[in-house]
Amino acid sequence: MSSTATIKYGDQTVELPVITGTENESAIDIAKLRDLTGLITLDSGFKNTGATKSAITFLDGEQGVLKYRGYAIEELAEKASFLEVAYLLIYGNLPTKAQLDDFQFQISRHTLVHEDMKKFFDGFPSKSHPMGQLSSLVCSLSSFYPESLDPHQTQEEQNLTIIKLLAKMATIVSWIYKKSLGHPLIYPQNKFDYVTNYLYMTFGQRTEEVSIDPVVAKAMNVLLILHADHEQNCSTSTVRIVGSADCNLYASISAGISALWGPLHGGANQAVIEMLEQIKNDGGDVDKWLNKAKDKNDPFRLMGFGHRVYKNFDPRAKIIKKACDDVLAKLGINDPVLDIAKKLEQAALSDPYFVERKLYPNVDFYSGIIYRALGFPTDMFTVLFALGRLPGWIAQWKEMRENKEPIGRPRQVYVGEVNRQFVPVEKR
Ligand code: CMC
Repeated sequence: MSSTATIKYGDQTVELPVITGTENESAIDIAKLRDLTGLITLDSGFKNTGATKSAITFLDGEQGVLKYRGYAIEELAEKASFLEVAYLLIYGNLPTKAQLDDFQFQISRHTLVHEDMKKFFDGFPSKSHPMGQLSSLVCSLSSFYPESLDPHQTQEEQNLTIIKLLAKMATIVSWIYKKSLGHPLIYPQNKFDYVTNYLYMTFGQRTEEVSIDPVVAKAMNVLLILHADHEQNCSTSTVRIVGSADCNLYASISAGISALWGPLHGGANQAVIEMLEQIKNDGGDVDKWLNKAKDKNDPFRLMGFGHRVYKNFDPRAKIIKKACDDVLAKLGINDPVLDIAKKLEQAALSDPYFVERKLYPNVDFYSGIIYRALGFPTDMFTVLFALGRLPGWIAQWKEMRENKEPIGRPRQVYVGEVNRQFVPVEKR
């Protein structure tokens, strides 16, 4: 295949380079297009626009393939710990035993958050959404660690900022939950691994004695791994673009958290359970709700269905569906919304509307059912997604900085008024 693409415009013919990635996807490099022809490209929602060259995550939406740094998601979910995957994403390779021990040790030294941060909770109204709290609290870490504001931190300094964020995020996330209940906060126990420590701070009592159900810990580990990265999605692109302005890591991740909150993105896991509950309370007529989702005059969408990139199946959804059955069986939970979810999935997968548009269950369709079985309230679901996505956001931010990528600044085609004369207010 040619390594250039030819574009004809008016009398002009220009040759543009074609870049090919290691998994053989190709892209026209249009950086010089405007200089050569005066044209820009227009692609609302960046549906067919590559924003960067990245070596972190590969995704083939047609084949349903997802790999982190070349490792299949199925293998990582089965065999790895969340911290191993975090290391892999951030530093590029799976850690040796010594590297993993050191990583765990470094993180365990920074799990405490500044006591003054507890005062923030007094300012949040009792019903404030956990995602708004998380975004604010993560951004506020920049005030406690002002050295992070320097965009030219040495590698060692930058690494400490990364370690602090990974360590404190689990504490912050569990404290948001504890505060929502009005319960006393539980401080981290550094003898625990990352996931157990998080579960201990979330569900434990104020005692050293703790027993975290291994079924719960395993499910949590898998869920965090499945969410850990997903290449240039809405929140990750947000993190990279905010970071490209030399913005510090905490502020960049805080912006990503806000983007993730949206129900079309990570907020879908909360929206799915709310939808399933609504269908159940309405009598459980799955066809009625499918018809609503297909009706273009009805704003209702089947939450947890469809994906910008996956047009065959979402490999994460396959793993989660199985985990969901296992967790509910092992915990002896019979959740009626699981039956509705399965009926809905079956009906949608044989409905021409969904088949033609290649709409399949995504990662969020079954994850909420597991979170609920583990004891999390609905409005915490997207926060758990954020905890899982954190290493991916960090890896993408770090890669963007190491590549010395320029500030993100798309162009536009202006379609507004041209040359209007100002008229004083009394004459309008
Ligand atoms: N229910 C009903 N119709 C849908 C749905 C849905 N969930 N998703 C897409 N469609 C239709 C859409 O109306 C459009 O139809 P038409 O061609 O007749 O106009 C067609 O399918 C293409 O949809 P689109 O909105 O152009 O696709 P997109 O790539 O812009 O949007 C999406 C992707 C995920 C935002 C969308 O599928 C959606 O809103 N899904 C529900 C929300 C959801 O589950 N989001 C979680 C995504 S996975 C977690 C993550 O990584 O963020």
